[in-house]
Amino acid sequence: MRKGIVLAGGTGSRLFPMTQVVSKQLLPVYDKPMIYYPISTLMQAGITEMLLICRPDDLPLFRALLQDGTQWGISLQYAEQAQPNGLAEALIIAEEFLDGGPSALILGDNLFYGDSLTWLLTQTCATETGASVFAYHVSNPQDYGVINFDDCGRALSIEEKPVKPQSNYAMPGLYFFDKLASDFAKQISPSERGELEIVDLVNRYLSCGDLHVKILGRGTAWLDTGTPDAFAEATQFISAIEKRQGLKINCPEEVAYRLGLIDDAQLRELAKPLLNSGYGEYLLGLLSRG
Ligand code: DAU
Repeated sequence: MRKGIVLAGGTGSRLFPMTQVVSKQLLPVYDKPMIYYPISTLMQAGITEMLLICRPDDLPLFRALLQDGTQWGISLQYAEQAQPNGLAEALIIAEEFLDGGPSALILGDNLFYGDSLTWLLTQTCATETGASVFAYHVSNPQDYGVINFDDCGRALSIEEKPVKPQSNYAMPGLYFFDKLASDFAKQISPSERGELEIVDLVNRYLSCGDLHVKILGRGTAWLDTGTPDAFAEATQFISAIEKRQGLKINCPEEVAYRLGLIDDAQLRELAKPLLNSGYGEYLLGLLSRG
């Protein structure tokens, strides 16, 4: 079974002073903590065993909020990343947890929402060999890992925050790896900025001819929360869609219930302490609405 890694460390310095004493991934995006979104995304991919990696100081807070995951029908373990040494270090930290199996790594500040996303994620999860990443058209590719394609649409290379991007396709923070990822990550050298770069790991798969790149279409929303503006826009987006539809986006309790990971009685229990905020009412509504 593929296991999930949720990387929720980093300094969050682009959001200072908001994140000076509290982890960015614990801040709210509209009506729920940011970390709920990537966890729900992995659940929708069919992943029920996850490792959350965060800064040592933040670990007790994440544990207090998320516990061992059983309340949502999943298993959640925790590990520390002492310093923000780069995204690829997550595969090294998670090596024991992965126990020689495949993984899906998601960044704790990446939000995904879209109609056929669950289908795409479960399909990707079932791809056994190599690595799979996504490509998403953005207006500011220079802020991300950028995927360059040839005329036939084959990926040629991936560059981290290129000054002159060769395409508008950014690589979102959701990566599926086979069992080789931890070993490959250990062979990466730190970049000029001193990090083990995720693009170097992905490029390793590309050079072996073992990388699958899937386009996330324009009907999918991929939001990141790296800057105050991006954060505010993500909050507005979630708020607008949720209010319009009367349905919550990436609500882990709902995902667990719909997937059959928890039953009616468990959902009712989860709703009890949340009744004051309206979140609990929403969960109870699922019982009658189905
Ligand atoms: O959001 C997608 C982008 O994420 C990708 O397109 C880029 O290729 C990838 O490098 C990354 O770019 P960012 O500029 O967003 O990386 P950042 O350093 O901001 O880290 C992303 C998240 O991961 C953030 O929530 C902090 C966390 N993090 C970061 C580092 C470097 C860690 O937990 N540990 C780390 O060592």
